[in-house]
Amino acid sequence: MSTLVSPELEQQAIGWRRHLHANPELSFEEVETSRFVEETLGSFDGLEIGRPTPTSVVATLRGARPGRVLALRADMDALPIQEETGLEFASTRAGVMHACGHDGHTAMLLGAAKVLAGRRDELAGELRFLFQHAEETPPGGARELVAAGVMDGVDLVVGAHLASLKPVGTIGVPVGPMAAAADIFTAEVRGEGGHAAAPHKALDPVVVAAQVVTNLQHLVSRTVDPIASAVVSVTLFHAGTAGNVIPEAVQLGGTVRTFDPEIRRSVRVGMERIFRGITEAHGATFTLDYQEGYNAVVNDPAAAELVAAAARAELGDAAMIEVEPIMGGEDFSAYLEKAPGAFFWVGAGHEDAIPHHHPRFTIDEAALRSGIAVFVRTALDYLA
Ligand code: NI
Repeated sequence: MSTLVSPELEQQAIGWRRHLHANPELSFEEVETSRFVEETLGSFDGLEIGRPTPTSVVATLRGARPGRVLALRADMDALPIQEETGLEFASTRAGVMHACGHDGHTAMLLGAAKVLAGRRDELAGELRFLFQHAEETPPGGARELVAAGVMDGVDLVVGAHLASLKPVGTIGVPVGPMAAAADIFTAEVRGEGGHAAAPHKALDPVVVAAQVVTNLQHLVSRTVDPIASAVVSVTLFHAGTAGNVIPEAVQLGGTVRTFDPEIRRSVRVGMERIFRGITEAHGATFTLDYQEGYNAVVNDPAAAELVAAAARAELGDAAMIEVEPIMGGEDFSAYLEKAPGAFFWVGAGHEDAIPHHHPRFTIDEAALRSGIAVFVRTALDYLA
């Protein structure tokens, strides 16, 4: 078991996490959270602390000798969910909850910063601790931090996410794709309203939009290489006000998830083709608003191996688990456009635990210790 994290530090990290959990803030509103992080970092030795955006914090630790630059990242925002855990440190803010574990991410990176600040003499190079706002809400805080220059000169970037459905004590470091590009779309199919008993005098947009929805399913099943992957989900379909009225229009919306940029592009082009072709065939019209969200997170093989080796060294071979890529999105990808890196999972529960983004989501706080140990060992190895 790792000796990098003292029992005292582990308790302190749990305390930070509970404070943040009780005081969650939504994306772009992390005013008190960022103040707490800034103050806590200020109590460690030798950190230069900056505020690249109003609700983010970046701390720099310069090693004793020159060398490479490593960025470590945690996200800090909560979700618009009413907490139902009944925990003694449950959210004190109505309708806002740390239901994805970002409170834990922040506590882990604070813990790593504390340990590493105390071992500055062992470091060649520079560490940058990125406490990022607004991961949950596109366009996301990562892009803003990159624009503010936090990745300038960075050679490698590493981030982590707790995973309530993976056993506590385990670490997963995928090689290659690990989180999908997450795009959203809204659309409208317009016909002509009328009396439901006289469809021939109207142009029913419901039947046309229904054809659009079923044809969209052909994009993944018939145009994407079956070995690759993509998701097209239509999640909104709104029309009509009465049983005897054909509506004027149908509102649609949904999401597209891909890993490969070429598949992402071809799915988007295919969607436009299907909307155009189906509506034209029936004399209807459409509008389609397609918004690109976060890019896919693709782990660099060498960076993934560095993190995996750190995890094996601190937690043992048995801690390593195989993890599949997820179709969820993560704005960590914005950093990967500037430098290679790796994003790893920290097991924080068990297989039938409550999933993330749920009102009863919880983590096993023993996970914090694992996450801190992997961050610290990765930094010590990379800046040796
Ligand atoms: Ni999250």
